[in-house]
Amino acid sequence: MTRHFLKDDDLTPAEQAEVLDLAEAMKKDRFGYRPFEGPKTVAVLFDKHSTRTRVSFSVGIGELGGLPLVLDAGSSQMGRGESIEDTARVLERQVAAIVWRTAGQERIEAMASVSSVPVVNALTDSYHPCQILADLQTVRERFGRTAGLTLAYYGDGANNMAHSYLLGGATAGMHVRVCAPDGYRPDPVILSRAAEVAEGTGGSVAVLDDPRAAAEGAQVVTTDTWVSMGQDGKDERIAALMPYQVNAAVMDAAADDAIVLHCLPAYRELEITAEVLDGPRSLVWDQAENRLHAQKALLHWLVTGGGS
Ligand code: CP
Ligand code: NVA
Repeated sequence: MTRHFLKDDDLTPAEQAEVLDLAEAMKKDRFGYRPFEGPKTVAVLFDKHSTRTRVSFSVGIGELGGLPLVLDAGSSQMGRGESIEDTARVLERQVAAIVWRTAGQERIEAMASVSSVPVVNALTDSYHPCQILADLQTVRERFGRTAGLTLAYYGDGANNMAHSYLLGGATAGMHVRVCAPDGYRPDPVILSRAAEVAEGTGGSVAVLDDPRAAAEGAQVVTTDTWVSMGQDGKDERIAALMPYQVNAAVMDAAADDAIVLHCLPAYRELEITAEVLDGPRSLVWDQAENRLHAQKALLHWLVTGGGS
């Protein structure tokens, strides 16, 4: 059965660890893995803007011996109404995998439902699971583990990053806290799925609204833009989320060895102060680089029959 990666818990805890081990090995031996030798092609489709995802998948597929076919989906026939399923049927006969950044989770699920080659979620409105693999790799590099660590996420608790931290962090055995106000709290279905996953890994999930309490003892402090791609109501969102800014006061309340992550792009002095983002605890540039290694590992794992 073809394995896809549409959301964080599509990998079991053991599989996630396997991918992260491979990512670590690949970072040390960057050109030593060539599953796409041939070369095979991987389609990388974008319905939304991207810098990191576009670059890291393109570079990574090349380093794996393959050819990246990067398409702005809007300029393909999908942009004129060709169905997702028909597009999948055309792609699957020519490419080794399909990577797609789109809006609705149901769109990528539709692609996967007919594709005989792996489909990878490069961000939807609901999840950003490739980002979380890179974040977990960054956490492992600093702490040597993920299990048992506390991660505090601030701001828009209802967006793709919050949901993926909940699911992916729980899979990694972390204690995930989402600190967000009313109206910006996680989807209850995803929260309860994350709680279920956490039960099996020794992790936990919690939603809090006190920024200091959320930071207490946290080894990982993280946030994301307050206005995700496709969202309206910028002024209202900024007003509601300002008390949840990641700043020096939050970092003072966190663990002494706490690190700061941000998936980027960052909006300094909104969700995070420049002092913190550009400060000594920030690992955001390692995190951005790890997109490359983590995604290479994921693609390698998927196309070489991972999980079977
Ligand atoms: N973090 C992230 O996915 O960045 P891009 O939107 O630039 O790809
Ligand atoms: N939540 C953000 C993440 C960007 C990488 C967005 O969806 O725009």
